[in-house]
Amino acid sequence: MAFLNDNYLKLKAGYLFPEIGRRVKAFCDTHPEAAKRLIRCGIGDVTEPLPPAVVAAMHQAVDEMASRETFKGYGPEQGYEWLRRAIAENDFRARGLDVADDEIFVSDGSKCDCGNILDILGGKNKIAISDPVYPVYVDTNVMAGHTGDANDAGAYAKLVYLPCKPANGFIPAPPKKHVDVIYLCSPNNPTGAAATREQLEAWVKYALEHKAVILFDAAYEAYITDPAIPHSIYEIPGARECAIEFRSFSKNGGFTGTRCAFIVVPKSLNAYTKTGEAKPLHPLWARRMTTKFNGVSYIVQRGAEALYSPEGKAQVKALIGHYLGNAEVLRKGAKKAGLKVFGGVNAPYIWVRTPKGVTSWQAFDKILADANVVITPGSGFGSKGEGYFRISAFNSRANAEEVARRLQELKW
Ligand code: MLT
Repeated sequence: MAFLNDNYLKLKAGYLFPEIGRRVKAFCDTHPEAAKRLIRCGIGDVTEPLPPAVVAAMHQAVDEMASRETFKGYGPEQGYEWLRRAIAENDFRARGLDVADDEIFVSDGSKCDCGNILDILGGKNKIAISDPVYPVYVDTNVMAGHTGDANDAGAYAKLVYLPCKPANGFIPAPPKKHVDVIYLCSPNNPTGAAATREQLEAWVKYALEHKAVILFDAAYEAYITDPAIPHSIYEIPGARECAIEFRSFSKNGGFTGTRCAFIVVPKSLNAYTKTGEAKPLHPLWARRMTTKFNGVSYIVQRGAEALYSPEGKAQVKALIGHYLGNAEVLRKGAKKAGLKVFGGVNAPYIWVRTPKGVTSWQAFDKILADANVVITPGSGFGSKGEGYFRISAFNSRANAEEVARRLQELKW
């Protein structure tokens, strides 16, 4: 008899985005006319093509694969040295941050990295999670057996939930009690809030005092417009001793379909054995990568490298400008529609309060049925997301303008 992983049976409904996809498909199947004018602002998937510098680099890489002299087989599991150098140099050392090339590990996505990192952390950690939160942090901990069962509101026993509300600007302060692992996402998915230097300093101080590890998800870093907001946790002194940073090329370079991301594991970051002995996490992650991963394709890594060329940087800037322009249009549209709006300034997500008495899923159904627009119900991100919905700014400008217009036409 083969036993299954019981932890999977604790998971609530399906993963949020497939569930939305299922509902949207059901609606489209029964409303073919409305389906023709459907605009998707649900999942945060980019819509604009890859930057030309990336396309050129990938074409060249394909040509190299076509000849015996330049063909590449297996690459280094942690990423090619030239990409790790380009990342460390441009994203960190150019900003005065101390990150070595071999502290960068290139991967096929931040979602995978966020889940996989649990391989090198113990099973007894007390885990703190913001609420609302990117569902992957919660679900991967459930799968790994780090939680108890969920209650009716969807909250899992053993997790420490940190409420994110307008009163704290949707960025939680460190808890009074002890936790061992902390997930922070800034700029935040789903609320669009970005943590200030002071807020991150408080977290680093807490993590150092508690010998905790911060898992800092900075996948939306490129959207920061406020010069006072830190782009990396390593801007905070002490973070090299307590934080792993997750970055992605999905939302800056448009790699959601192409797949490339990286994490930074500082060599000075320790975690503890059962007997309390400090051990660096870096060799564990290197061991995990070399055992379970064969690296991102050469062609894709050459494409990612091109994002750091002068042309690539200019093209990324234009892409981000485009999506942030959409965010502005959507924010203004939702405000004019009389809705209370958060985020969308340092992030491609707009976090909107539902009208009084309307739940997140009721708002989802209404906006789908009457405006033929797909949004994401806030409650899908956690119980404190109830009463909100998220609009993604990843779209064409014409669609963003149309969504802004349709929101204003809605009668609640
Ligand atoms: C989202 O919509 O929250 C994102 O697309 C999720 C992701 O990047 O995996």
